Amino acid sequence: MTIANGENAAGGRGITEKIYKTFLQEGIDVVTLGNHAWDNREIFEFISEAKRMIRPANFPQKTPGTGIVFVKVNNVELAVINLQGRSFMADIDDPFTKADELVAQAAKKTSHIFVDFHAETTSEKQAMGWYLDGRISAIVGTHTHVQTNDARVLPGGTAYLTDVGMTGPYDAILGMKKDPIIEKFITALPKRFEVVENGRSILSACILEINPRNGKTKTIAPILINEDHPFLA
Ligand SMILES: [Fe+2]
Repeated sequence: MTIANGENAAGGRGITEKIYKTFLQEGIDVVTLGNHAWDNREIFEFISEAKRMIRPANFPQKTPGTGIVFVKVNNVELAVINLQGRSFMADIDDPFTKADELVAQAAKKTSHIFVDFHAETTSEKQAMGWYLDGRISAIVGTHTHVQTNDARVLPGGTAYLTDVGMTGPYDAILGMKKDPIIEKFITALPKRFEVVENGRSILSACILEINPRNGKTKTIAPILINEDHPFLA
């Protein structure tokens, strides 16, 4: 089963229906989102029909979309939950309380539960990892675009990675052209960010091996491929 965070898939800003469908055709089973989910307004036209796409579950109740999906692969059901942090991010509902609610809901159907925690700070992500240890199969962070070097299986059998990193342009700042961002840091003036479309690229991911009998994770293996870390080098 393949899960991809797609909140920046449409040129760095949100996702379109065409991209969502292409992802499914290419073998992605579930698309998760985050704070940039709403950047491309097209999402409001297809989010209610996109059964394999979830947005952070702790957005307010009246926000379109849902934050949990169940997918069956080889007769094993996996629950995928998307949550968003609150440190240096929008002040939405408490992700920890929402995690309690959704993990309890998922546990009624399956012991295989995956959480994409879309958050800015390492501390909030570690806190969520420890909070859910022993209750879910894995929690993998997204949003910072930079893969962290801390993949592990926590004592309760929950795999943890603070951030899985991004797939996209390598000679960039979080996928965007460098100069406007450097200028923004220097001048504190608003700048228009543009995604890098050519040049070298990076692939970031991780592979989880989950015990089919009890939903606990056996191994978590990060993948980072770019010219400085070539495949199988
Ligand atoms: Fe994000």
